[in-house]
Amino acid sequence: MDISILRLSHRIIRDKRVTTHLGLVGRAFCASRMYYSGDRDPSLEEKIRDVNERFGGGFEVIYVKDPLRLVKRWREDGGRVVHLTMYGIPLPDVLEEIRQCDKILVVVGGEKVPPVYFEVADYNVSITNQPHSEIAATAVFLDRLLGGKAFYQEFTGGKFRVVPSPRGKKLIRVG
Ligand SMILES: C[S@@+](CC[C@H](N)C(=O)[O-])C[C@H]1O[C@@H](n2cnc3c(N)ncnc32)[C@H](O)[C@@H]1O
Repeated sequence: MDISILRLSHRIIRDKRVTTHLGLVGRAFCASRMYYSGDRDPSLEEKIRDVNERFGGGFEVIYVKDPLRLVKRWREDGGRVVHLTMYGIPLPDVLEEIRQCDKILVVVGGEKVPPVYFEVADYNVSITNQPHSEIAATAVFLDRLLGGKAFYQEFTGGKFRVVPSPRGKKLIRVG
């Protein structure tokens, strides 16, 4: 399954850490790329590149000027669009159906999400019906979708690997 994330309306000052963390969560939880709209932010792109260089993998961050066009194209190309929103259907009710999709675009908002995204999405999915965070919603969604696959995901390339250990920090140099 190929998974991408679309982060709407990035605001360079307010959302710097949140959008970076969203990218890091996408990368760690088996997504291939994060598109983002709003303010173009080279330092966000640089941060994720830096993590790839150190820890491997080919996770991409791609700026899109017109996110609605991306969503429409995604659907025309046979992909499915999952919009995460507290107003949607609880994930357990649609999880099996979503697992049948080959290509998924996970859409998350920042500031108010325009109503059109509720209409164009194939699925409006809630991770509880309480307000919280796009980072948490994405992590829970990807973990449930992939049934914990992220815990054993192998990254190729990069300079370091973590050696899991019960105490302390163990890193080995691999590149
Ligand atoms: C921090 S919220 C802000 C929402 C904003 N105040 C609004 O009025 O739309 C940002 C994003 O987190 C995600 N999110 C927050 N709570 C969620 C939930 N319970 N289930 C799914 N996604 C959620 C949604 O994608 C939402 O657009």
